[in-house]
This record gives sequence, structure tokens and C-alpha cells, in this order.
Amino acid sequence: MSSFKHLAIIMDGNGTWAKKRHHRRVFGHIRGLKTALRIIKHCSQIQIPFLSLFTLSKENFNRPAEEIELLIKLLDKAFDKYIPFLFQNQIRFCPLGDISVFSKDLREKLIQSQNQTEKHKGLNLILALNYGGRQEIIQAFRKAYVYYFNQSVFPKNIKEKEIASFFPSANFPNPDLLIRTGGESRISNFYLWSLAYTELFFTQTLWPDFTAQELEQILQNFKQRERRFGLI
Ligand code: IPE
Ligand code: MG
Repeated sequence: MSSFKHLAIIMDGNGTWAKKRHHRRVFGHIRGLKTALRIIKHCSQIQIPFLSLFTLSKENFNRPAEEIELLIKLLDKAFDKYIPFLFQNQIRFCPLGDISVFSKDLREKLIQSQNQTEKHKGLNLILALNYGGRQEIIQAFRKAYVYYFNQSVFPKNIKEKEIASFFPSANFPNPDLLIRTGGESRISNFYLWSLAYTELFFTQTLWPDFTAQELEQILQNFKQRERRFGLI
């Protein structure tokens, strides 16, 4: 799978997983974090170049304050605990999304981890945090506007590649495959622009139950799909 560059995952179903066990939702998120670590490790071992995890959507911030606070706390603690994991596995960490909503302390941790792991040669781990696909498009527009304004250029014939270069995710290849767990068949405002030709895979498996074996099965299935990019 040498041409396979980027796997994106919408990790869904933590709450349902907890509810089925008569636990609080946060318990599902704690289990979900464990799954995420296993999957990151597996992707790193099988040498997938880029892995994007939809960790917190912009819409997630509309959840009850208690849940969102717990999610952020979990993320914060995970950072403290798993920084060595990024070093041991030569993982490059890239946050994506509007992180201005986080505390100064967490923001610094995110930026610092990004800087400290920048030279790593292994997996590029992209965590989408307070991320929205449309918001990313808006950001690209704003950046482009300022850029062309400063150059006094009116880009009447702007090309696809130029537009793409203004995206915060411009340095990542387009995802080859998107997996969503938890039984819903939606994109939910994840990468909108770069999913144009991505193969989509939806599984009923709830995220805390997702395993490296299932990922391998999905990757096998992906290999059998014929990607034609509009050709015949
Ligand atoms: C996904 O699980 C994890 C996050 C959004 C952080 P959910 O919390 O959306 O779980 P369900 O969809 O309610 O089962
Ligand atoms: Mg959900």
C-alpha cells in the first residue's frame, strides 16, 4: 500500500458504548482514548504516513458544559501522559482547528508538542480540535483575501491548487480513506474540501470497541476498491 498516504477517522460511539453498560458518557470517552492510542500505535507500526483523528468537532462544543470540560480535561491529561509515546514512536504531532478556545496552558502544550516533534520521521498525527470543515474553508478565504489584497492582485482566474494552498491543512495529502465508527453515515463537517475523492467506510462498531484487526480488514477492503477519480 505504498501509495496510501492518509487515513482519516471520525471516532464516534463513545456515549452509546457507555450507555449500553449503564455508565456515564465520560467512561466511554476514557475507553475511546485507549482505542485511539492503540490505533495510533498500529498506524505508526504499519507506516501509514498521515493519520487524522476527528477528536473534537466545533459542534461538540455545544454539548453540556460538564461533558465538554471533561473531554478537554481528558485531552489535557493524555498530553501530559503520552508525550514520551510521541518520542518513542517518532510521531509528528499536528493540531488542526481553532485552539483559541482552550486554556493558555493547554494551548501551550499543543504548540510545544508540535514544535518538539516537528523533526520526527514517523507518523504524522493530526488531531482535529474544535475543528469544522466549513470553518477551514472560511479561514482559507480570509487568508487568501489578505494575501491578494497585500499584493494588490485581483485573482480573477484563481486555480484549485492556489485555493488549496491557503487551507490550514494544506501540508497534508488528501485522505485516501475515511472511516467513521458508531453507525452514522455522515461526514459531520470533517475535512470538506480534501475528502472530494476519498473512499468512505462506515462501521457499526462503537469507537471503544474498534480494534487494529478491524482496521486491517477495512484496509484490505480498501485495496480491493477501484479508485477511478472520474476516469473509466
Ligand atoms: C464520539 O463519541 C467522541 C466525541 C465526540 C468526543 P460520542 O460522544 O459522539 O458518542 P455517541 O455518538 O453519543 O455514541
Ligand atoms: Mg456522536
